[in-house]
Amino acid sequence: MSTESIKIKLKRFQIVRAILYVKNWIMAKLGLKVLTYGSIYDKETRYFLGRYLPEKMSRFNGKSELNFLMLGSPGLQEIRNVPAYLLKRFNVTGVDKSPEMPLKLPLKNYTYINENVFDFFKKHDKSKKFDIILSRWFLHHISENNKGIVCRNCWELPDDNGILIIIDWFIADWETPGQLLESQVKFYEYRVKYLPREK
Ligand SMILES: C[S@@+](CC[C@H](N)C(=O)[O-])C[C@H]1O[C@@H](n2cnc3c(N)ncnc32)[C@H](O)[C@@H]1O
Repeated sequence: MSTESIKIKLKRFQIVRAILYVKNWIMAKLGLKVLTYGSIYDKETRYFLGRYLPEKMSRFNGKSELNFLMLGSPGLQEIRNVPAYLLKRFNVTGVDKSPEMPLKLPLKNYTYINENVFDFFKKHDKSKKFDIILSRWFLHHISENNKGIVCRNCWELPDDNGILIIIDWFIADWETPGQLLESQVKFYEYRVKYLPREK
């Protein structure tokens, strides 16, 4: 591909991104959408994972490959800030009922399973263990009973020394204590709006 066509593609990509950004910003201002990616809760949780996972590596006793399960994840947004040297050791399995939208990350392997998490649990051979299981912003989508099913399954799946990470915190961006309170109230209003949760 010539430098010229790369430049044109890049320009188109930037224009599309800018249009989407403006559209999402207007929808967020009108209260029709909560901006997720790029929000405080997105960045905080990504930066957290970028620090936390390297810190936990000593428990895997130098294993060269780590099996990583991402529940309710159509892409790999959650691990965008994990250092590349670690990503290269990860065999990631993503499970989500939505179409796949993977980021290009330097993983060892990536498998996408496009199905309901509960069907995945039913079919998955329990002897195939995972070193790391991550669920970000997925559990609030499902009923209390189904949260129990997810937790019971996750209990059986980690390998020795394996870790389960659940992140289900999200509120709109804030700058002052007043806005923080407002964001928290909005979070609970959002949750009530979607009750009863999907079975
Ligand atoms: C708020 S998004 C979070 C996406 C991703 N984990 C992240 O942190 O960017 C919730 C995801 O859960 C998925 N989801 C909800 N219920 C599901 C189910 N029962 N089985 C599989 N995926 C599910 C949705 O399709 C959606 O992609």
